Amino acid sequence: MQRVVLLLLIGIVDLTMCQHNSQFHWLSHLRGRRRHASWQADQVDCPLECDCPTTYFTAMYCHNRNLQHVPYVPSRIKYVYLQHNRITGIQDGVFDNATNLVWVVLFNNQLNSDKIGNNVFSKLKNLDRLLLDHNELTHVPPNLPKSITDLRLGHNKISKILPKSFEGMANLTSLQLQANVIEDVRGVFKGLKSLTLLDMRKNKLRKIPDNLPERLQQLYLEFNSIESVPEGFLTLCPALQYVRLAHNKLTDKGLPSNVFNISTLTELDLSFNKLEKIPVVSRNLENLYLQANKIKEFSLSSFCSAIDMTTFSRLRVLRLDANEISARDIPAEAAYCLRRVASIDV
Ligand SMILES: *[C@@H]1O[C@H](CO)[C@@H](O)[C@H](O)[C@H]1NC(C)=O
Ligand SMILES: *[C@@H]1O[C@H](CO)[C@@H](O)[C@H](O)[C@H]1NC(C)=O
Ligand SMILES: *[C@@H]1O[C@H](CO)[C@@H](O)[C@H](O)[C@H]1NC(C)=O
Repeated sequence: MQRVVLLLLIGIVDLTMCQHNSQFHWLSHLRGRRRHASWQADQVDCPLECDCPTTYFTAMYCHNRNLQHVPYVPSRIKYVYLQHNRITGIQDGVFDNATNLVWVVLFNNQLNSDKIGNNVFSKLKNLDRLLLDHNELTHVPPNLPKSITDLRLGHNKISKILPKSFEGMANLTSLQLQANVIEDVRGVFKGLKSLTLLDMRKNKLRKIPDNLPERLQQLYLEFNSIESVPEGFLTLCPALQYVRLAHNKLTDKGLPSNVFNISTLTELDLSFNKLEKIPVVSRNLENLYLQANKIKEFSLSSFCSAIDMTTFSRLRVLRLDANEISARDIPAEAAYCLRRVASIDV
């Protein structure tokens, strides 16, 4: 099984190796293939512009070929690779005979929301991964199958997400929406019971999304315009381990006291904001990034509420460089409380 997954991943990755000579390489490959007797038995249904290797009967490789349309996908195909082409639209019905599809790989095309039919993906009841990143989409495609676990929509032009876009997608575990122009996501993540990773870096958010799913472990919100964190935001997401809020507009006023003092948190990135104080964090936190803020004092009580031999912080990485403090501001007792930190960058 692992070997199969590896083969499939190669389908995505190998383009980095063949990008330079690909355009003509695939053509000569195509022309050559009729001479091989081994192609004939299984491959009669393979579209001319694609490769369907006999060694992997359910995969169809059509990447890096200047395609402008999705070719016919035979019904036996489970994995279709269409990345790095010039596909602008997909009409309803194109995948209707390919209901076994598990992976549809379409990143690095020119997909335009107005040219995608309302039911292009809706019949794909087994679809697991849908990779649509690096296109020109302005909306999330409608009627996505509820079976999807990995949905990638990063690096598009999505500005608004309709409330029903992800409705009922109870198996979705990873949702990538980074590098779009999203301002508001009111309630759209409600009901995503399995979601563990939400990537919304480089958007136009002014607030932390509300109704975050209960199982969320990784929340990436760097490069937005977030000014504050709501009271109790982490107690509503008890599974969160990694919270990244670097390059926002956070100030002390926007952080309720103790909002980050949550024992499940492992990594907190608040670098490149406007904080003047070190927020109180849990003793279980391991990585804390606070560089490039306006911090003026080193408050040991932010890490340990009492100083003694037995209670200490698990912190390993602490960055405080590019603030308004120096090594002289760190008290000697820090050595007890922060005994796992190898060195503090100031
Ligand atoms: C699907 O298969 C049927 C029967 O084999 C065929 O008539 C039809 O044209 C196919 N549809 C598409 C979109 O290729
Ligand atoms: C979600 O995953 C479970 C377990 O793998 C599966 O039984 C179920 O059919 C999936 N739901 C959908 C809508 O595909
Ligand atoms: C952080 O939370 C823990 C556990 O809830 C609590 O014991 C501790 O006093 C809190 N730290 C501060 C500085 O309030």
